[in-house]
Amino acid sequence: MVTGNQVRGWAEQKFSGMQEYRRHFHENPELSFQEKETSAYIQAVLERRGILFEAGVGGPWGIVARIKGEEPGPCIAFRADMDALGIREETNLPFSSRREGVMHACGHDFHMAALLGLAETLQEYREFVKGTVVFIFQFAEEIPPGGAGSMIEAGCLDGVDRIYGAHVDTQLPAGEIGVLEGPYMAASDSFFVDIKGGGGHGSCPYEAQDTMTTAATAILNINQIVSRLIDPLESAVISTCQIHGGVSYNVIPAKISLGGTIRTYKRETADFIRDEIERAVKAACSMYGTQYNYRFERGYPCLCNWERETAVVKRAAERTGQYHCREIRPTMVGEDFARYLERIPGAFFRVGVRNQEKDAIYPLHHSHFQADETGLMAALELFLQIYLTETGQ
Ligand code: NI
Repeated sequence: MVTGNQVRGWAEQKFSGMQEYRRHFHENPELSFQEKETSAYIQAVLERRGILFEAGVGGPWGIVARIKGEEPGPCIAFRADMDALGIREETNLPFSSRREGVMHACGHDFHMAALLGLAETLQEYREFVKGTVVFIFQFAEEIPPGGAGSMIEAGCLDGVDRIYGAHVDTQLPAGEIGVLEGPYMAASDSFFVDIKGGGGHGSCPYEAQDTMTTAATAILNINQIVSRLIDPLESAVISTCQIHGGVSYNVIPAKISLGGTIRTYKRETADFIRDEIERAVKAACSMYGTQYNYRFERGYPCLCNWERETAVVKRAAERTGQYHCREIRPTMVGEDFARYLERIPGAFFRVGVRNQEKDAIYPLHHSHFQADETGLMAALELFLQIYLTETGQ
């Protein structure tokens, strides 16, 4: 059996390379569905290492690379996401984003670098590849409909037996791995409401069908759904996060638009909320004589980690002899890795990157988000140990 130290040695060799990749991605972030240069960079690395891949999978920027071993074995896939967020970086890191208003604030730069590190290691130590290893570089995780669905439709899971993915986490200290069997991340759907009235002078709301007050009432009605209409033992969140309308302090706008997110763990709860939001909006409109348009959009399903594969992650962490594996709590955050786990067995785990001394304490999606780069080593060692465990080595 390959020892933890041996794997650590491989990962150490790859550390500076992964760091370079990560910093390159960090400096050159691209928004969801626009990962053109990121995809080209990954393809160049794969080409340089002689790793075969297919580009343009499920969209122009999706990449699926494969390494086949001499000996038979299972087909194990690993996935990294590629997109950044529309956030202005405020970290002052020497390798801060060069693109104004775009930032790798969700650590996807880490995920890509670690996956490249894995591909390079297994290409170098090919004698350890039994069966096939698949590396999925997925575009657009952040914005529904996401890239996972179209990459699956394009066949990225064809012949794949199991899949694994990792996400950095600043809630977990560096050196820790987090995983949870079963339902772990919430389904995320969205809703959009347009409220329409006649508009008019701010001095005469009684003549204007007041869209503003309707919107305010609708938001408050919506906020009562979870607390008053849902079984308290079910998990659900509804947040109205967008409100657009009005151009002047003294004109009642003819239209106000709202948008929000719905997080649940059960499809029936999501469907119930879908209908209740419309009822809440309708009630507000009937009070003020306004009209509405309502649109509900189905997003990512609930992410559910498989039992056997969760155990493989725990075993892999143990085998490193380095990283403590902790059971973590379910979260209302969503992730389109859920779509892979709907199709085939697998697990999604967290890699701790919190480090007070390095100021890596801010949450994901924060303009000050930073991550301890030793997380690259942890992610690579875990991936390698998962692979070795899956192939009985
Ligand atoms: Ni993310």
